[in-house]
Amino acid sequence: MASTHTVFKDESKLDINYIPQKLPHRETEQRLLLEFFSFILRCPDRMAQRVILAGDVGTGKTALAQRFGATLASEANKRGIKFRYVHVNCREFRGNLSSTLHRAVTVFEPNYPSRGYGAEETLSTLLQVLDREGATMILTLDEFDSLIEKEGSDAVYKLTRLQETRQGQPQRLSFIFIMRDLQAIEKLDESAKSTLQRSIIRLQRYGKAQLVDILNDRVKMAFELGAVAEDVVDLIAELAHAQTGNARFGIEVLWRAGKYADVQEANCVLPECVRMAVANIVPGLRRSELAGLGLHQKLFLLAVARYFKENEEAYVSLSEAELDYAVVCEEFDEKPHGHTQVWNYVQYFTSLGILRSEVATAETRGRSTRLSLPTIPAVELERELTASLQLARRA
Ligand SMILES: Nc1ncnc2c1ncn2[C@@H]1O[C@H](COP(=O)(O)OP(=O)(O)OP(=O)(O)O)[C@@H](O)[C@H]1O
Ligand SMILES: [Mg+2]
Repeated sequence: MASTHTVFKDESKLDINYIPQKLPHRETEQRLLLEFFSFILRCPDRMAQRVILAGDVGTGKTALAQRFGATLASEANKRGIKFRYVHVNCREFRGNLSSTLHRAVTVFEPNYPSRGYGAEETLSTLLQVLDREGATMILTLDEFDSLIEKEGSDAVYKLTRLQETRQGQPQRLSFIFIMRDLQAIEKLDESAKSTLQRSIIRLQRYGKAQLVDILNDRVKMAFELGAVAEDVVDLIAELAHAQTGNARFGIEVLWRAGKYADVQEANCVLPECVRMAVANIVPGLRRSELAGLGLHQKLFLLAVARYFKENEEAYVSLSEAELDYAVVCEEFDEKPHGHTQVWNYVQYFTSLGILRSEVATAETRGRSTRLSLPTIPAVELERELTASLQLARRA
């Protein structure tokens, strides 16, 4: 039976579909969106707008568009303006334009048949329905790349042509196109490209400090007070930063690490829980990499693994790791290598992704290098290294 003990206060706040009220570090972009679409609150049927939202995986494109849509809809509602924000993921419809548009029609006409109509017919129905209701709509086409891939320039024509034949009539439909890679637009022919490229908002990858802020917000909402230490958030932010600044990755690690803490009945999320969480998301230790290491590389790494196994810390200072390495060397009757050599090992492990190193400048720590073991559970690393060192001894 599952234990009732839990570090979570409300784990739904870490669900992939949860959109927080506030999106730290996306304030400017949200304001920009509101600016582009402010006409909806002033003269909704006099204009239409097309905006592209572009950014790498996990940079907040979907969350930003949905938060913006909800904000604008509630503002419009307060003013008695008939406005709908509709968010459709094109990939869910395998990049098929008419199925994607069908979803938008069903907002008003739940029984509209899903088969038998082409994209142009469906779009024309959508505009008729909006006319009938006297409403305007922002239709967000998320993962638009997949639609371009499937339907090419033709899809863009279909989306824009019909509106152009409505000159002089009320404007009803605006678009937000979300894509990871603007390169997809390059595949389009010139005129489709120029129709799309008017307003582009680019979401830059999050830096580590920004990820710390995003994660801290979620920690407050989802965890019991004191269940996630500052250093643990730091460790996760660093990992998410290494994964192209992907906030989703960070949030997922946070949630899984909480789960591991619960399984162990720990009253807080320990760095080892984070490593276990990550080991289950990204491929962890590769045995072949360990087998290829030199004797002293293994001894140093063993010292680090033991440190993290025995201490519930996220970081170890390099000087402390060197002391522990000397102890391990004694155990194996080896003379420890000097600082420069150890420093080379650290560089090498960093390049393999086994360790991460950073220069800590916090006043309390002095200016020193600190190491973390982000992705491999210390227990597992120690076990593998010990086995491999014993094999070498017997040989
Ligand atoms: N600034 C932010 N503040 C709080 N949470 C954020 C922020 N940016 C992203 N997130 C969260 O990170 C996760 C990933 O964000 P989102 O799904 O919006 O990324 P995306 O850019 O659409 O990624 P993909 O290209 O994979 O679709 C979501 O859970 C989202 O709520
Ligand atoms: Mg998305």
